Amino acid sequence: MAQREVHFPEAFMWGTSTSAYQIEGGGSNTDWWRYERAAGTECVEECGDACDSWNRYEDDLDLTAQLGLNSFRLSIEWARIEPERGVISHQALDHYRSVLEACRARSIVPVVTLHHFTLPLWVADLGGFEHPDIATWMSNYALVVGQSLGELIGIACTVNEPNIVALMGYLMGLFPPQAKSWERFVEVNRAMRSCHFAMRDALRSTPGSYPIGMPLSMQEYEALPGGEEIVESIRNEMEDEYLRAVGDDDYVGVQCYTKLVFDADGLVVSPDGEFTEMGYLFWPQSVEYTIRRAAQFTDVPIIMTENGIGTDDDQQRIRYLTGAFEGLANVRRDGIDLRGYFQWSLLDNFEWVLGYGPKFGIVAVDRTTFERAPKPSAQWYADAVKGFPTSD
Ligand code: BGC
Repeated sequence: MAQREVHFPEAFMWGTSTSAYQIEGGGSNTDWWRYERAAGTECVEECGDACDSWNRYEDDLDLTAQLGLNSFRLSIEWARIEPERGVISHQALDHYRSVLEACRARSIVPVVTLHHFTLPLWVADLGGFEHPDIATWMSNYALVVGQSLGELIGIACTVNEPNIVALMGYLMGLFPPQAKSWERFVEVNRAMRSCHFAMRDALRSTPGSYPIGMPLSMQEYEALPGGEEIVESIRNEMEDEYLRAVGDDDYVGVQCYTKLVFDADGLVVSPDGEFTEMGYLFWPQSVEYTIRRAAQFTDVPIIMTENGIGTDDDQQRIRYLTGAFEGLANVRRDGIDLRGYFQWSLLDNFEWVLGYGPKFGIVAVDRTTFERAPKPSAQWYADAVKGFPTSD
């Protein structure tokens, strides 16, 4: 393929991260919508209208601009673009064009994810990530997006946390299709990398010169005596196989939330320490740890495409972000090529199986009126960003 010119935004990117299904509402043509209504799942409630961002995206972008953030990560819902196999919705493409234009009108760099956990029903019904044609279907979809929206995209993310889709859907049985098999987990991880390459190459053949990469879920891992082998094998599947594959990408996305501790029996559910609403260890140190780890594997620039905390206690969030910022400063000081940081998330939103319980937002959303109310952490973030030394 001919060399494509790639332009990174000049300024360090500060933003929040969101996904279509979790904030738009009405994602009824997806596997998740069906999954929430099926018997025998762990889902606590339905997504429904989410934050109504399908209609209120301008409010979200106004908030972003008011906070002085120069970037915004959102995702495009494949099920809306291609509601049936081979049928393209130009109305949906027009909608996303308006969203991207609304970003540009506010000088906000749109960071666009093409797949964030949800599949169109037709894809899921044909076997989803286990169908031999999945990479072709996804690259066809990427071609449509690239041809139509490429000129407006600031950064593209192909598949969000492919390793979590594989882990939760095929090993833990907590996401669709609820499988619990190491072999299927490994196979889907492999398929995910093929999907990423196919989508990346499809996007590269369409207009625009934006960087393209894949956001990976990474965590800090700790092995207690006897847990070394488990850490080695799970981390190899979850991280190393991916990190070894991103060399031809334009950047790698790192997403982290916590530290995972393993002993000889597996994951230690309650190691000593402070916990978050998700039951995660409060561990902002994972920011520095994961960025450094990614940098050991690859020379491509790094963007922290997600990081945050689910908590009802906004002061705990501020403490978490304070720790995260220390890590960002440390890696920048050491010359690691980190280009941006995206806090998860702008809004309190639909946290998959856990519904609206966990609060990841720096902005609260009234579940009936959809009114947005910034929390103290929003102002904290706005101030911290202003004071952060990002020029080299
Ligand atoms: C996902 C988000 C999710 C967040 C918090 C990430 O794994 O990309 O969709 O809401 O973590 O759990």
